[in-house]
Amino acid sequence: MNNFEKHVERYFSSLRPCEITEAEKYAIDGGKRFRPRIIFAILKGMGIDEEKGYDAALALELIQTFSLIHDDLPCMDDDDMRRGKPSLHKAFREDIALLTGDEMLNDAYRVISESEQYDDSVKVNLIRALSKYVGLDGMIYGQLLDVTNDSSSINEEKLFEIQDNKTGGLFKISCLFPMYINKVNREEYYTKLGTYIGQIFQNQDDLFDIIKSEAEMGKNHSDEKNDKGTALVLYSVDELKKVIDDEFEQLDNYLLDADFDTTYLKELLLKLKER
Ligand code: IPE
Ligand code: IPE
Ligand code: MG
Ligand code: MG
Ligand code: MG
Repeated sequence: MNNFEKHVERYFSSLRPCEITEAEKYAIDGGKRFRPRIIFAILKGMGIDEEKGYDAALALELIQTFSLIHDDLPCMDDDDMRRGKPSLHKAFREDIALLTGDEMLNDAYRVISESEQYDDSVKVNLIRALSKYVGLDGMIYGQLLDVTNDSSSINEEKLFEIQDNKTGGLFKISCLFPMYINKVNREEYYTKLGTYIGQIFQNQDDLFDIIKSEAEMGKNHSDEKNDKGTALVLYSVDELKKVIDDEFEQLDNYLLDADFDTTYLKELLLKLKER
């Protein structure tokens, strides 16, 4: 187990012992931790130890997990498998899953508020970015668009809007967090970096819903069943692969303007490209 996973485990041992805490532990286990790894890679490129990002990354991973718990509920995507095992509402119950998601969102703000890693001015910035890009300028707005647009209403602009909010929201946070921790002020640059990564990530996810097995992804294929307005409504598999390759190239160019050493982030992006 790596040090960040130990940090996650320690956090759960501090919570009130009850069924929600058990459910949180079950749900957080098995994620790829891609958003935390972006935080660590950018911090390293800034010459800051990744440990300095642990509470910020924990908060974000709690919210990522909450978003997936609710995303899988019968009233949303209705998926029975997540992170390679039964979805939380299957392993526990629907009411427990709802409450657990709510609690993880609360936990995230508590982790940052009580953190001993950041001073108050950094905490305010982290909390502001979270509330903005998890909420109606990000993930929750994107999920609203996702459930209110089916395949018939998709065009390029709508697809981008859905992806840039539902997925881009949390990636913007991953990119902004190290910037705030390092007390740099370049919000526009880091926000757009999150847009680029989020779009690639969701395009890949839509592609994998068709070309990879459920076992490999550790979750159900349900986009077609749910008539979702995904990238594959607009593009064939081969076209979408090309779109993703082009987006990686654009991202590479964008990184030329970075004010941190991009070696570590590029290493991580290469893993994303090869997944
Ligand atoms: C799933 O995110 C939700 C999407 C934005 C596609 P991940 O693929 O990062 O899921 P975990 O966190 O590794 O389970
Ligand atoms: C979900 O997108 C993004 C979230 C905000 C949770 P998907 O519905 O495509 O994610 P998966 O495929 O279930 O992981
Ligand atoms: Mg969904
Ligand atoms: Mg889903
Ligand atoms: Mg998906």
